Amino acid sequence: MRLSSANINVMVKACRKAAKVLIRDFGEIENLQVSLKGPGDFVTASDKKVEKILIEELQKARPNYSILSEEIGQINNDKSLRWIIDPIDGTANFLHGIPHFAISLGLEHNEEIICGIIYDPIKDEMFAAEKGNGSYLNNQRIRVSSRSKLKDCIVFTGGPKRESKDRDLALKEYNNFSSKVLIPIRKLGSAALDMAYVAAGRCDGFWQRNLNYWDIAAGIIIVKESGGFVTDFKGENGYIQNKTILVTNAKINNEMIEVLK
Ligand code: IPD
Ligand code: CA
Ligand code: CA
Repeated sequence: MRLSSANINVMVKACRKAAKVLIRDFGEIENLQVSLKGPGDFVTASDKKVEKILIEELQKARPNYSILSEEIGQINNDKSLRWIIDPIDGTANFLHGIPHFAISLGLEHNEEIICGIIYDPIKDEMFAAEKGNGSYLNNQRIRVSSRSKLKDCIVFTGGPKRESKDRDLALKEYNNFSSKVLIPIRKLGSAALDMAYVAAGRCDGFWQRNLNYWDIAAGIIIVKESGGFVTDFKGENGYIQNKTILVTNAKINNEMIEVLK
């Protein structure tokens, strides 16, 4: 990886340490699939273990930073610097033995994400970015795709969440989108990797309703630093507050907004 700021190094180190546990536990899942109890509790325990390692490592290196992490919530400290952690993004995949999930780790400075790492431990793919210094996949600089017509694109989405208040809206959006544009729409099951894949030009766009901040924090900077756009469904900035996120290459943002209307 060409990024080498002190914070990125801290993040990479924490991630690699936590990933060892994640890989080992994923290897166990296959055995648990056939057991009576099933892998549910085991996955919850894994999630917590991974989170604990990440937090311990990050706190060791940066004792003053605040933390927002999916399982434990908020740890208040320095107000201007905060780690945003999703220990496993793609838990349903993990639970079912599907090798597509990631650790997602973002660093916020004055409420803006300035560093992000999304690490897929199974494929050993580390997506990383730092404000002003570009986005990388392992040692290679990545950029969003240059496809300019939606008809030539592949897009990702996720959800809808069963419990979400606007689940029906999300279903409608999906049906609407797929009937308006006959292009491949994929649901790979990890919002963090969905964003990383847009950044790497593997797909051209991604939209989803009702994601949490930890699902998208690292992805925000990775997409922006690869030349992509992160907006809400109207092309505006309120994607964190209104929980509608649209991620695209630099060419299809307007067309996606039109189709999502
Ligand atoms: C989930 C994944 C999934 C998305 C869900 C998220 P989790 O996160 O990002 O792709 O569709 O909305 O909750 O629960 O695996 O951390
Ligand atoms: Ca998540
Ligand atoms: Ca998670």
